[in-house]
Amino acid sequence: MIWASRDADLHALDLHPAVIDPTLRSMNFLNEVSHRFPDAVSFAAGRPTEDFYHVTDLHRYLDVFCSHLVDARRADTAQVRRTLFQYGRTKGIIHDLIAQQLGRDDGVDIDPEAVVMTVGCQEAMLLVLRALRADGRDVVLAVDPTYVGLRGAAALVDMPVHPVRDGPDGLDLDDLVDRIGGVRRAGLRPRALYVMPDFANPSGVSLSETTRRRLLDLAVEYDILLLEDNPYGLFGDDGDRPPSLRSMDTARRVVTLGSLAKTCLPGVRVGYLVADQIVAATDGSRHLFADELARIKSMVTVNTSPIAQAIVGGRLLEHGLSLAAATSRETALYRRNRRALLTGLAERFGTGPVTWNTPRGGYFVVLTVPFAADDAALERSAAEHGVLWTPMHHFYAAGGMNQIRLACGALSPAEIDRGLDRLAGFLDAMS
Ligand SMILES: Cc1ncc(COP(=O)(O)O)c(C=O)c1O
Repeated sequence: MIWASRDADLHALDLHPAVIDPTLRSMNFLNEVSHRFPDAVSFAAGRPTEDFYHVTDLHRYLDVFCSHLVDARRADTAQVRRTLFQYGRTKGIIHDLIAQQLGRDDGVDIDPEAVVMTVGCQEAMLLVLRALRADGRDVVLAVDPTYVGLRGAAALVDMPVHPVRDGPDGLDLDDLVDRIGGVRRAGLRPRALYVMPDFANPSGVSLSETTRRRLLDLAVEYDILLLEDNPYGLFGDDGDRPPSLRSMDTARRVVTLGSLAKTCLPGVRVGYLVADQIVAATDGSRHLFADELARIKSMVTVNTSPIAQAIVGGRLLEHGLSLAAATSRETALYRRNRRALLTGLAERFGTGPVTWNTPRGGYFVVLTVPFAADDAALERSAAEHGVLWTPMHHFYAAGGMNQIRLACGALSPAEIDRGLDRLAGFLDAMS
């Protein structure tokens, strides 16, 4: 770090406030701890399993997509080459496949023109929040604890995030109504609620079907959008999947923020959004919200890598345009790991002093501990006990100090067992 002792050229306080926002720092801190303790068992990483990744798959997916261009879209060799090598359509080249996949897996009828392919779900969040933050009155509501990426995207567009309490049903609807009222009384405009309906990150909690219905009614009554982000929805116990908010929505209240990181692969950095709301333009014409968002995207990432989209497209085509079919092995592995984690916790801590929740899908479990599970505790756990986890306070607007998130997606049952033994040692030392 030869630059560390040099005179400063810029001051952090003269840069956008996001650079000193604790949310943006928390991601770096957690990555940095993981790098410093490479031999620790990590319950910290929210990564998917790597067990089914094969480099040869990438080549095959590309071939499958190219054949699709020729067979289904009647492309000639030059058009296939141009599609992959050139700048492309801002809204993407696999939007129609995504619309069909959502039809297969979710039973929804999606206009492909309402789909915008993005650079991960993270870009979808940024575009939607950028558009909804018209002026200083606009705020977004989010279930607390919430995914840090949402808070980070909001920080980048200067949009305050107002927390809504979670609950056994995933969301405290009375608190939501109170928050909307409070925000309005303060002269602000609640534009949307960010919500993860199934096996949320970090809480693992899901919204009940009744809560989903009420939420859609409230969205109409209070004129807010629902930003539905559901990367883990396919990883539930068999038959245990309530309908998505989008599939229940009859009033165009839902904007879908789509991640393919867990159902395809994070390395492609491909996500999408579905925004079928109608926007009245100043000249009286009507547009899809997706088109306004694509306009913003054209100045952020121009278009999503067509090569990366082609890889996703090939994977979708290979599995009959169903991600449920494509991820059957992952779903089984996450179920196995979740059971190993929950059984291992019960064997070691069945009599206390810690408690935990029992999500029926995904790969996050939250542990409540009788001490401050802060960043210093994580350092100690890593250095002295060789086990990493995520302090939950990083996901809360305020609080969460005695909770830790355990992620089991990228571990084997043997690693889970070893990690829990180490965690038991750490918890003993902290008691
Ligand atoms: C709830 C949630 N949304 C979005 C993402 C990120 O999605 P992407 O990798 O597609 O940007 C994650 C990743 O962990 C997540 O947990």
